[in-house]
Amino acid sequence: MSTTQTEPEERPERTAAETDEPIDPAWTEYGFDGRTKLAVDSLDVHYGDERAIDDVSLEIPEESVTALIGPSGCGKSTFLRCLNRMNDRIDSARVDGSVTLDGKEIYGDSTDLVELRKRVGMVFQQPNPFPKSIRDNVAYGPRKHGEVETGMLSRLFGRGDGTNEDELVERSLRQAAIWDEVKDRLDDNALGLSGGQQQRLCIARCLAVGPDVILMDEPASALDPIATSKIEDLIEDLAEDYTVVVVTHNMQQAARISDQTAVFLTGGELVEYGDTDQIFENPESQRVEDYITGKFG
Ligand SMILES: Nc1ncnc2c1ncn2[C@@H]1O[C@H](COP(=O)(O)OP(=O)(O)OP(=O)(O)O)[C@@H](O)[C@H]1O
Ligand SMILES: [Mg+2]
Repeated sequence: MSTTQTEPEERPERTAAETDEPIDPAWTEYGFDGRTKLAVDSLDVHYGDERAIDDVSLEIPEESVTALIGPSGCGKSTFLRCLNRMNDRIDSARVDGSVTLDGKEIYGDSTDLVELRKRVGMVFQQPNPFPKSIRDNVAYGPRKHGEVETGMLSRLFGRGDGTNEDELVERSLRQAAIWDEVKDRLDDNALGLSGGQQQRLCIARCLAVGPDVILMDEPASALDPIATSKIEDLIEDLAEDYTVVVVTHNMQQAARISDQTAVFLTGGELVEYGDTDQIFENPESQRVEDYITGKFG
């Protein structure tokens, strides 16, 4: 992580119809019950000289759904990728600040990125199954990590006897609410599934390596309304056991599925963060209210 200090920059132009209201730090202070899973402190991201995330601090509670909303280009995907260091793969990206997972800094040199990305899995906008069988897709991660044999199963199931890959595949597909649709065709190519099924398969593939946190970047935006509602139900169920952070453009979706909402606005600023009902019914910031009511964005 670079610690280079940069000169203060000009504020980016606000989106048309967005007011110049300054941010009140109190708007992003959110006192939640329960334990902090991820803590982000003074996070800045630049691509070359362009700032994409501007001094963002927030804490994400475990076993809940956190929605990230805001207009296109405000930095939602960039922020999400900071949570499992996917921005490391982008040459021009520079990340400053701190992110801890269960209290441990992930931006240290000693971080094992493979282990980190197993614990903090990611699901993308376009379902991206491998051109392999449904079974192979789910078993891919555990096989790659050699864990079907070496004990991940016994950890996941809490016992060591008689567990095998088939059980892990079934369990992951059940958790992703797609088992009944695919149980008789596990050896068929995953690309033969519908878009919504492919997305749930990708979620199963993510679950198969035993993550704590699941990051989702607009996971339903390429899907029809029925497939979308299945993904929404699934996200709510997953939050009983996992910490889910989901980017969405769909305000109703954020309101339906999330426990807390973070609103990013122009220039990668976190303007407001809090309980989802409060953000949607009674936001503190005028800019957030204008965004939510569709005056810009
Ligand atoms: N790989 C990259 N290289 C350079 N600039 C980038 C890169 N990725 C994103 N950016 C820039 O960073 C800013 C934030 O982009 P980001 O993709 O995080 O926004 P977003 O909120 O996810 O937008 P959208 O809602 O359209 O997906 C934008 O100005 C974008 O052009
Ligand atoms: Mg995005």
